Amino acid sequence: KKGNYDHFMQKEIHEQPHSLTTTMRGRLKDNSVVLGGLKDHLKTIRHSRRIIFIGCGTSYNAALAARPFLEELSGIPVSMELASDLLDRQGPIYREDTAVFVSQSGETADTLLALEYALENGALCVGVTNTVGSTLARKTHCGVHINAGCEIGVASTKAYTSQIVVMAMMALAIGADRISTQARRQDIINDLSSLPSKVSEVLKLDGEMRDLAESLIQTQSLLVFGRGYNYATALEGALKVKEVALMHSEGMLAGEMKHGPLALVDETLPIIVIATRDACFSKQQSVIQQLHARKGRLIVMCSKGDASTVGPMESCRVIEVPQVADCLQPVINIIPLQVSP
Ligand code: M6R
Repeated sequence: KKGNYDHFMQKEIHEQPHSLTTTMRGRLKDNSVVLGGLKDHLKTIRHSRRIIFIGCGTSYNAALAARPFLEELSGIPVSMELASDLLDRQGPIYREDTAVFVSQSGETADTLLALEYALENGALCVGVTNTVGSTLARKTHCGVHINAGCEIGVASTKAYTSQIVVMAMMALAIGADRISTQARRQDIINDLSSLPSKVSEVLKLDGEMRDLAESLIQTQSLLVFGRGYNYATALEGALKVKEVALMHSEGMLAGEMKHGPLALVDETLPIIVIATRDACFSKQQSVIQQLHARKGRLIVMCSKGDASTVGPMESCRVIEVPQVADCLQPVINIIPLQVSP
């Protein structure tokens, strides 16, 4: 039932404090993470030569958001594959690989074909899905259910944030034997617990984001620039705009801006820049300055209290979001972009 909401997507966006709570339920202990479906395979995963994330659309984007902290906490190289592209190329997969398949439905044809392919090549296959009993859940060697509750809206929203949280927990579990990252792991575990309340806080921007969306109705196109942990946020935000607002939108790596996209910048094309606090903050500040120099029409997403860092307010709109551990920030930052289309 949609209850008081106009459509399922809206309901599912607002369900996220709850869906994230159920995703984490029983899995976070004081200073450790327990994932029943993975525990017998952690040793094999830790010894793998590489971890490959495989998925399509939003599920791929969620994996892309998880990639930096999985690399950081596990020390294992993580590569990314869009399922259809892996199949087109028949890309190499080895017995020493761990292939992690991410799919809300667990039934996406390309993802399942890529799974067959990885199984034939002898990789350890791990599933991350929302659907108990799905083909993906049955055919992988092991895995984790995201427990976000049934997602009815075609545009994936709550599954995206729960997928990121599950992959954060996977990274914590895989990296649990590394002494050097213990303090970092503890910080992330603490912030995971407070994530649902921070998500409730950012959902209050709903009205403000709808106003912003209204102001963009006449425009043809929208760019979204992100980098580091929030490169995925840029891709996923742009995907939501495309499929919900039916408007052209591109997510771009901000580090690539000067290698071509800068030519598009003028006073009319709206550009969202994600510039919340993390190790890339100062680089994003210089991107913002370059865009101001070109008189770009900017909308900057920054951490609460940082509005004064984004440059002349008259030529720029600001979305202030609550801050969490840098690697969990994509869970917060996607929410204004989910509500706006
Ligand atoms: O069920 P899956 O996660 O495997 O679906 C993959 C994509 O088709 C899906 O994520 C799609 O991109 C979203 N519904 C877009 O919002």
